[in-house]
Amino acid sequence: MSQAIRRIAISTGGGDAPGLNAVIRSVVLSALQRGWECLGIRDGYNGLMTPDVYADGGIMNLTRESVRGITHLGGTILGTTNRGSPIAYPTLGDDGQWYERDRSDELVEKLNTIGADALVAIGGDGSLEIANVLSQKGIRVVGVPKTIDNDLAETVVTFGFDTAVSFAAECVDRLHSTAEAHDRVMVVEVMGRYAGWIALYAGVAGTADAVLIPEIPYDIEKVAERVRVRAERGRDFAIIVVAEGARPVDGDRSIVGKTIGQQERLGGIGHQVAGQLADLTGKETRTVVLGHLLRGGSPTTHDRILALRFGSAAVRAIAEGCFGCMVALDPPTVRYVPLSSAIARMKTVPLDSDTMLTARELGISFGD
Ligand code: F6P
Repeated sequence: MSQAIRRIAISTGGGDAPGLNAVIRSVVLSALQRGWECLGIRDGYNGLMTPDVYADGGIMNLTRESVRGITHLGGTILGTTNRGSPIAYPTLGDDGQWYERDRSDELVEKLNTIGADALVAIGGDGSLEIANVLSQKGIRVVGVPKTIDNDLAETVVTFGFDTAVSFAAECVDRLHSTAEAHDRVMVVEVMGRYAGWIALYAGVAGTADAVLIPEIPYDIEKVAERVRVRAERGRDFAIIVVAEGARPVDGDRSIVGKTIGQQERLGGIGHQVAGQLADLTGKETRTVVLGHLLRGGSPTTHDRILALRFGSAAVRAIAEGCFGCMVALDPPTVRYVPLSSAIARMKTVPLDSDTMLTARELGISFGD
């Protein structure tokens, strides 16, 4: 059923992912075709929460011209942030301590002030949680799932993941020749937060010898044994892919730090694994941390198409009056699922999935 929509707002939140611009273009063109106006909020919701910081008042009028030629570009023309969530806004208390404060009512008011009849919120778990709060407070919201980590439930895949995995696999490919030339163990640390999707897919596609993922706490001795067995078979080098959220059976995740109003930052496990493998195997070891390289650059064709499909599906959802939902890939279609179920759980790698079984049958060690 069609709603009285004249103007929609678009926001991109959380860490950027290749494909964001493709979603924006698709939303804008699909909306303009229906005669709707499109406003882009800068830097998540900062354009609304702190408009004075911006020369244009924090809101971009999105026209056909503003979204021309952006489908293949990484990043987001709107900007994004993973700090200062409106539902956990860092605020300095009278006692000099920082607290997280819920400013969602203020955001609802500001969205109403700009006359947005509906909001397309493009983001990962954090941004979709905000979207769900806004929806509960009466804003007509449609979410679009974005993250290189692929850890969002209810959608088979998120855009950004394929680009991250393709690049990671290419890096693993490149490391094979140098590892073999020097008889070294190369440890590659990849992003993915608390899910092992990127590590698993890059490791399988790049034929790694071991893949360490958050879903399976690893025993470093088992990984070392894999390296030794390989050497006995005449393959005196090895490639180990480690997810940033991986942890040993007898230890914790490697955390860089946690700042108020932000999620904890992971990192450092690659160096830890490399150091231990050098000690246990006596082999020369090097670490490569791919980090933000996985989020940069142009989206793959797969991610562009997915992002474009998600964008136009989000506009169709608005036109049909379906709110409080997220567009989700359920091949061969894109369907709408409740935002509340999309954020209810994190999608980690199922240990009985056929990709896991394939990896094990290929002889990849998970350190268990
Ligand atoms: O969620 C995407 C992601 O790239 C994670 O894989 C990673 O842990 C995190 O964001 C890094 O965030 P930041 O850009 O704040 O360093």
